[in-house]
Amino acid sequence: MVAYKKLRLSGRKLPDIERFFREKLNPLYKAHYAIWVYWWPLWRSLYSGQNIQRKWGQFNLAKEGQAFLDYGCGTGWFTIPVARVVGMRGKVYALDCFHRQLQIVEERSRKKGLTNIETMLSNSNTGLPDESIDTVWMCDVFHEVEQRRAVLEELHRVLKREGILAIYDGMRDRVLSYTAGLFSLTGRDGKLLRFTKIR
Ligand SMILES: C[S@@+](CC[C@H](N)C(=O)[O-])C[C@H]1O[C@@H](n2cnc3c(N)ncnc32)[C@H](O)[C@@H]1O
Repeated sequence: MVAYKKLRLSGRKLPDIERFFREKLNPLYKAHYAIWVYWWPLWRSLYSGQNIQRKWGQFNLAKEGQAFLDYGCGTGWFTIPVARVVGMRGKVYALDCFHRQLQIVEERSRKKGLTNIETMLSNSNTGLPDESIDTVWMCDVFHEVEQRRAVLEELHRVLKREGILAIYDGMRDRVLSYTAGLFSLTGRDGKLLRFTKIR
């Protein structure tokens, strides 16, 4: 399990031995890198991204001034536009378990002049205060998460009382067996499920 770390990843140097194993020897790392760093953002730009983003309005997911957690943010396809929506009075927490994704999010936000994005390296805990987040956005991440119930418990903890959890995932209805007792379903459209907290 990757321990929770809140860090500015740009300029972070991996120790040489760790870099050697991760980037030169490990074919799984290379495959992961190719899929998530190159192929996935291309897929988002060419096809799926705009359609998904249109649902934000329909489900009232992003508003000016909000604290927004993009859980499993990848290279930031949704992080960047939502940072513009929440604006300088709001904040976007971009969390992923793969450090290279977060480096890219940071590079992209710097280029776009966005200063309201904070990256977080974690595969479960957020380190955020209780009831501090308005919306948690989990897009095409849930099926990849190993500790699904533990992650949902953490999201329940950090969401405000009236906060929204939005899960877009190919697991569709199977997500409900994990959310039971923590969240109630308040809307759905295809793969998008919208929840509020059960207190
Ligand atoms: C298919 S990509 C989706 C990226 C982005 N949400 C999007 O929709 O474009 C899934 C992302 O979830 C991350 N991920 C998988 N399991 C995770 C976990 N347990 N905690 C945090 N991130 C996770 C992966 O590293 C990857 O960046």
